[in-house]
Amino acid sequence: MDALNDARSTAPGRFEGGAAFCEGRYVPLSEAKISLFDWGFTRSDATYDVASTWQGAFFRLDDHLDRFFASLGKLRMTIPYSRAQVRQILHGCVRAGGLKDAYVAMVCTRGVPPRGARDPRLAENRFYAYALPFVWIAPRDKQLAGIDMHISERLRIPAASVDPTVKNYHWLDLVQSMFEAYDRGRDTSCVVDERGNITEGPGFNIFVVRGGVVRTPDRGVLEGISRRTVIELCDRLGIPLRQEPVPVADVLAADEVFLSSTGGGVLPIAKVNGQPLRLAHPGPTTTRLYDAYWAMHDEPAYRDPVEYTP
Ligand SMILES: Cc1ncc(COP(=O)(O)O)c(C=O)c1O
Repeated sequence: MDALNDARSTAPGRFEGGAAFCEGRYVPLSEAKISLFDWGFTRSDATYDVASTWQGAFFRLDDHLDRFFASLGKLRMTIPYSRAQVRQILHGCVRAGGLKDAYVAMVCTRGVPPRGARDPRLAENRFYAYALPFVWIAPRDKQLAGIDMHISERLRIPAASVDPTVKNYHWLDLVQSMFEAYDRGRDTSCVVDERGNITEGPGFNIFVVRGGVVRTPDRGVLEGISRRTVIELCDRLGIPLRQEPVPVADVLAADEVFLSSTGGGVLPIAKVNGQPLRLAHPGPTTTRLYDAYWAMHDEPAYRDPVEYTP
């Protein structure tokens, strides 16, 4: 019987602490591997998505699946699983991993081409998934103590080169900016575009607040699912929000700055480039959106509870 239809393969807690789905089988994380010759590794020729579960339920899983399947189409990739099957695999990874709060990734790589071939059409695309304990961009104590974000002068790979709305592993710009931040004793970083506007950081979108108005970049960024949640919450709460280019100077002069990510939702920033922001941390708008973000996890429309019994 294949792994997808055999309940034993995802028995609750079978791989306590995390489980992966590789080459059509559920495996412990220690066996989660890809080939050295997969173009996902040698060329970053891959797309992925990361959803989360919180207290035993996925949050906005449909939106993550929509984005993943849209990315597959844009990269001309196909997988041998339907959307319903991908959902089933992700649930299986969380259940087998015995996890309640989880980081849940789905990945498609270009695959391994025939030896010596250079034509991407010849490679068979591969699908992988895994669930780990929830990963925070910054843990709660660090969020309260105050995150210091470094604004790097490094440019994000231009959208005309790599479409940022396809979630991708082109992270060298982001990783180098993290080293710059750590060199200066700061906690995280973001990169800019060629016009001096901020774009995004390693795993998050950015929002600035000034005079009660929230702004976030409208281009050159991944359209984060948490970003969408913040935009929707601003609408619900009557908080004015604009999606438009945000110059670096406006970040430095902001009342409040916060990040959005599946890795922790709304994440308050206390300092930018070592300088405290204008309002005491965490600011009132950030706090409202933070509370609303977590409250939304209880709304049935956004919850997809994991079945923990086989
Ligand atoms: C480059 C980048 N921007 C933004 C985000 C935030 O997206 P989401 O809210 O869907 O987690 C991520 C998430 O990993 C990311 O990698």
